[in-house]
Amino acid sequence: MSFASTAESPTAAAGLGSDPQWWRQAAVYQIYPRSFADADGNGIGDLRGITSRVGYLQDLGIDAVWLSPFYPSALADGGYDVDDYRDVDPKIGTLEDFDTMIDALHRAGIRLIVDIVPNHTSDRHEWFLEALKSPTGSAARERYIFRDGTGAAGEQPPSDWTSIFGGPAWTRITEPDGSPGQWFLHSFAKEQPDLNWHNREVHEDFLQTLRFWSDRGVDGFRVDVAHGLSKDLPANLPSQAELDATPKDGAHPIWDRDEVHEIYREWRGVFNEYDPPKIGVAEAWVDSARRPKYASAEGLGQAFNFDLLEASFDAAQFRETVTFNLELAAKSGSSSTWVLSNHDVVRHATRYGLPPKAPQEDKAGTHWLLTAGTSPELEAEAGLRRARAASLFELALPGSAYLYQGEELGLHEVAEIPDTDRQDPTFFRSPGFSVGRDGCRVPMPWSSAGGSLGFGEGDAHLPQPEWFARYSVQAQDTVEDSTLNLYRRALQLRRELQGEDALEWIELPGSEVLAFRRPGGWLCVTNFDVEAVPLPDGEVLVSSQPLAVDVLPGETTVWLREH
Ligand code: NOJ
Repeated sequence: MSFASTAESPTAAAGLGSDPQWWRQAAVYQIYPRSFADADGNGIGDLRGITSRVGYLQDLGIDAVWLSPFYPSALADGGYDVDDYRDVDPKIGTLEDFDTMIDALHRAGIRLIVDIVPNHTSDRHEWFLEALKSPTGSAARERYIFRDGTGAAGEQPPSDWTSIFGGPAWTRITEPDGSPGQWFLHSFAKEQPDLNWHNREVHEDFLQTLRFWSDRGVDGFRVDVAHGLSKDLPANLPSQAELDATPKDGAHPIWDRDEVHEIYREWRGVFNEYDPPKIGVAEAWVDSARRPKYASAEGLGQAFNFDLLEASFDAAQFRETVTFNLELAAKSGSSSTWVLSNHDVVRHATRYGLPPKAPQEDKAGTHWLLTAGTSPELEAEAGLRRARAASLFELALPGSAYLYQGEELGLHEVAEIPDTDRQDPTFFRSPGFSVGRDGCRVPMPWSSAGGSLGFGEGDAHLPQPEWFARYSVQAQDTVEDSTLNLYRRALQLRRELQGEDALEWIELPGSEVLAFRRPGGWLCVTNFDVEAVPLPDGEVLVSSQPLAVDVLPGETTVWLREH
């Protein structure tokens, strides 16, 4: 069943309207479901938990939720190892719970984008289990990337490639007769075998998945590892060093190959069967010049820009990043996306409280900021002050803002997770190199006291530190200048003020002051310096720190209506 333009779509029925451009300047809130709210008390957040917090999301003032994977999964990679793309993990709910959740979100005027993971399945997916039971060269193996090993008895991997999470990118299987057998490629953990997108069945199955969730009313898809699907591996595999030295110009054997866009053209066909069309947003770690293709109207429609996330809290870097990305988005006819935090990186309050540090670049060219949270040099207050200023700056920009659960509370990264509680495969696969991403995935503190701080009845699946209580929703709800109320006020204003997605830089005194005007006559001014500067003229709409008369304090953003 498709909701073609003649029929009333479920979103229109729920009062969301059918504006095909709804996403252009949306504030999208990422929910990492297993750490958001736990309604059944098993320590893992669930869909009923999300439904119970729709009122909170509505008060916050977001336009859409991006839901990280909620599919059946052994959680070898926090749900990005999917056993079944068309079901809900029984640990976190049922399809009925999903329907109830989406209905509640839509009724609250909030759209839903779900995460789709097409680069790899989990090793428990029925296709992979079938491949293990089937002989070399069988159709079942053709859905993945199997190779014979090297060495006299195939006992060496086909190449020396390393996975993005560390460790080898090939794992050897045991053949059905019990003998050691072929090797399969996994760009991430060994529980995440890469799919073979030369296989037509793989295409058809994902088209079916897109329709399955679209028919259930989802408004769009966040596409995991969007730049990795099309691979072209030669018979003689290059070494890792050769791979690293190969330009990523569309002909690299693995990353960002030109023909990946044929896949998204097919997907666009499905998106456009609906009214309004579904939206896709690509997680594509590619050379920025190559990003517009992912974001084009014939492709997914939007692509993440992680440049702001990678910038230091610095006026020049912020300005350059914004100018560059607005121009880039215009090239594809899309709007820009802005991200300061997500489930893969150290939270921005913590990043900005640490000495500036170059982002790590791993061998596949993917940037992960994984290690910063453990530093004893953290200036927690300064980090939060800068984070509030940066968030208010971000929310004033044209384009969509992707927010990550907990950033509206000003949460810091949790550094003090005991090794025995860690879950992230990057921690296990890169010993001593990375503590992994668990520190930004600790369950939300809803109340200031009680078992798992209102997250649920039982213990949370990752331990919450004591200091989380001070950042809880309850602790901030009625405090006028809390971070939560800053986000609420800014998101409400953002809706009221929203006009054309344009921006004009204004020159104000001070090399560390960045100011821009938005259509409709309002300004965003950020003082990146620690020293205060004179406050420009205008009616103050919101500010990230309390203002003294005529003074813009250090590390503060203010929005002003021009007189
Ligand atoms: C990107 C996701 O954001 C990350 O969490 C995941 O580990 C990898 N893709 C692999 O799916």
